[in-house]
Parts: sequence; structure tokens; C-alpha cells
Amino acid sequence: MSGEWDDHAKRYAKWSDRQTLPHAQFAFNALEIPVPFSQSAPQHQHSVPVKILDVAAGDGAFALTAARVLLPPPLSSSLENTGPMYQIIATDFSPEMIRILAEKASSQKLRVECRVEDGQPNGIKCIEEMYRVLKPGGKLVFTTWSDSFIPHLLLSSLIEINPSAAITHIASKAISPPPTSPNPPPPKPRWSDPIWLRNIEMAAALSPAPLDTAVALSTATVTVRRHEVAEFAQMVQAGPSVRAAMRAEGWTRDEDWKKVPEGIGRVFEKVYIPTAGSGGEDEVAVPLLSQANVVICIKGVQ
Ligand SMILES: C[S@@+](CC[C@H](N)C(=O)[O-])C[C@H]1O[C@@H](n2cnc3c(N)ncnc32)[C@H](O)[C@@H]1O
Repeated sequence: MSGEWDDHAKRYAKWSDRQTLPHAQFAFNALEIPVPFSQSAPQHQHSVPVKILDVAAGDGAFALTAARVLLPPPLSSSLENTGPMYQIIATDFSPEMIRILAEKASSQKLRVECRVEDGQPNGIKCIEEMYRVLKPGGKLVFTTWSDSFIPHLLLSSLIEINPSAAITHIASKAISPPPTSPNPPPPKPRWSDPIWLRNIEMAAALSPAPLDTAVALSTATVTVRRHEVAEFAQMVQAGPSVRAAMRAEGWTRDEDWKKVPEGIGRVFEKVYIPTAGSGGEDEVAVPLLSQANVVICIKGVQ
């Protein structure tokens, strides 16, 4: 169901340059795709076209980064007749996300093929499927949130709006109940854990086995100015993936959830720090630490 993401798309796109773009750039650089063209002497130096498929592309943090580097505007048009050495395809199940992506590509004169496509909602199955469509030696790259600011911010906001629920949540993390069944369910995926991610091929049925799997940590700072706090807090609260993660944690009641922006507002008031040379209200900003795991698997040869 793309409806929640369609509704969220504009809000998401307003913050994606600060929120996910740095990690998308990190992931793109980690692929080390040879760039056989230089702007001064465009020439074709390798024979196999490079095909990039961005799945769940959103408003294009990754696909547009790839296009900016591999198909900057003069090349993008001059290659029309010589055949594409790079093909960048972006897919997402949200028509609104794809509309925003296509608009950005067109206004920046970047060549990205945009398609509305429903991918695989199960994370591990999605990795299996992306790996399956790779050529041998091709690279699968994906990012997952690491120990980022969102859970901390949400927990701090819960402390503001419902302290006893916050204490219960913290205690439930600290004290594990004794096992109730002799056959406990299989462990859940641990998407923020680099060691689990390093062994992703054990969780996913990746065949043939990858030649290599690496996990790197991408770190960035999201700066939120004082006049943006309410909008930022609403974006956090309305984000479908944040909401799903919090539901899975089972730590918010609906009435608490509605108050998250108010809680975040109160938290920010406590931690404002002035930026260098600040004077006016709007100069006051909070930097938030944003960290993502970037995983690369190189497909093995059968
Ligand atoms: C957190 S955003 C990430 C967007 C982008 N990759 C980025 O780094 O900014 C998640 C995206 O996944 C898309 N999505 C979620 N489930 C999907 C599915 N089953 N098939 C295709 N796209 C999906 C959403 O529409 C949304 O654009």
C-alpha cells in the first residue's frame, strides 16, 4: 500500500537532502564505479554498459546522485545518439515519490528512468530479489539506519509526554523476561547491527554466495533550525517507516503518538545551541547525529 508514502512524499522530499542524501552519496562512492568520461574530453572507454537499479528510490537521493556523477547534463544529451553507457533506473511503489523524482531529474537535466513499481515488502526477500537480478560480479548496495538520532529523539519525547510509559519501555529493554516456550521463535532481523548485516547471506538465500560482503558506517549531521522544529517534528511523526518501527517496539499508545511533535518540541527547547556568530532566533540550530550502515555484496560466479 503506497498510500501512506504518497501522503508523506512532499514532507519527506523537503528533508531528504539533509536526512538521506549524505548516506546515498556515501553508498554511491562505495560502489567505486569507474567514471570513463571527463567533462573536458568526453569519450567512451569501456565496452559494457553500467546499469544501476535504485529500488524504493523515494525522491531520488541515490539515483540523482548517480546521474549527477555519471551522466551530468552535457553528457546526458550528447550520449542520446551514441547509446547509453550508463543506464539509471529508479523504481518506487509510490506514484507521488516517482512524480517528485522525475520533476527533480527534469529540472536538473539529469537522465533517470522513473518507474512506479511495487517491490518486495519483506526486507530479506527484497535483498534476495535484488541479488537475483544482478549479473555475476555486480554489486548490491543497501543502507540501513544504525544507532541514529530517531529512536533517541522519540524516546526523549516520550519522556516528556508520558514519563511512566517511557520508564516502562526503558525497563523492558533492560530486563529480559524468562523464556516462556522451550521452542523460542527464530531471532528477528537486526537491521541496525553491522555484525548481523555482515552475515546477511546467512539470513537471505543468496546464491551463488557473494564474493565479498562489506559494511561501512556513514555518518552525517542533520541540522534543524529553531523555526523548522515543528515541521521537522511532524515529518518524524508522520514517517511510515518510523511509525512502523515504533509500532513493532510496542512503546507508544495512539494518544502518545499524536503528541510526539509536542514532545520533540519540548526536547529541542532544552538542547538548543547557538551556531557560530548567531544573533537572531533562526540562527539557533540543533545538529542531530545520523548514522547509516552501508552494505555492499559482490555477486559470486556460479
Ligand atoms: C525511507 S524512504 C527511502 C527513499 C530513498 N531510498 C532515500 O534514500 O531517500 C522509503 C521508500 O520506500 C518506498 N517503498 C516502501 N515499500 C515499498 C515497496 N513495497 N515497493 C516499492 N517501494 C516501496 C517508499 O515509497 C519510500 O519512497
